[in-house]
Amino acid sequence: MSNRPIGVFDSGVGGLSVLRALRAELPHETFIYVADSGHAPYGERDDGYLIDRAHAIVNWFTQSHQIKALVVACNTATAAAIHVLRQAYPDMPIVGIEPALKPAVAQSKTKVIGVMATRSTLNSDKFKRLLASLDDQARFVLQPCSGLAPAIEEFNATKIGAACAEYTRAMGTFGSKSGEIDTLVLGCTHYPFAEASLRLGTGPTVTYLEGGSPVAQQTRRLLAGVNQLSAEPLTDAINVKLFSSGYPPALASAARRWLNLEAEAFSLRE
Ligand code: DGL
Repeated sequence: MSNRPIGVFDSGVGGLSVLRALRAELPHETFIYVADSGHAPYGERDDGYLIDRAHAIVNWFTQSHQIKALVVACNTATAAAIHVLRQAYPDMPIVGIEPALKPAVAQSKTKVIGVMATRSTLNSDKFKRLLASLDDQARFVLQPCSGLAPAIEEFNATKIGAACAEYTRAMGTFGSKSGEIDTLVLGCTHYPFAEASLRLGTGPTVTYLEGGSPVAQQTRRLLAGVNQLSAEPLTDAINVKLFSSGYPPALASAARRWLNLEAEAFSLRE
């Protein structure tokens, strides 16, 4: 049993979609959330840069907060850096996130699946391997979405709407008839927060898949496996500390808006 916190990080506010699932699955745990907004967007960075950022953040997590587990709540950082983090911290339970291609194949009827993600995720070897393992089972329509995560980061409705319209149009026809995309994988943790705008382009029947819940379940499994789940329910309702390398008040308002979470956000100084 351990009451030490779980570290969660993303390039910005997107990982809050994963934090939401983590809090639902593990209500007795304490979380330290880092939004690396000062170095975003990750989706346009190269692997070396993302590996350096991941090391800096995890080093800070271990030194300043003695975390017991790490959740990389970012598809882009997972693809670029998780193997390096696992080597550097062999004793720490580490959970990453990847676009939900396998669940999409299982649930799609038309077997035409849209995948929205950052350019960096779609170009990564990790993603290419995942795609190659499944591309005989469905047709995947891959859509890099430059600018969408930054628009969500800014919470700029006009930019979010324009990007969602452009990218859903570029992917083709959505629907449940043969040849139509009936399943859309949200392969970036920011995109669930644009669902209302995306729906305008895809229509109401398309199934959206994001990776938050599987990540939360895997985190529970790993912690249970090493007997590190929190010992008892916290009496304090606020079990999250927020840190940002960008503008902390923007992170605090995003957490309030999307997670109904009242928590102060602090400046990250690694
Ligand atoms: N939220 C991140 C992901 O899941 C990336 C967004 C960005 O480009 O910074 O891929």
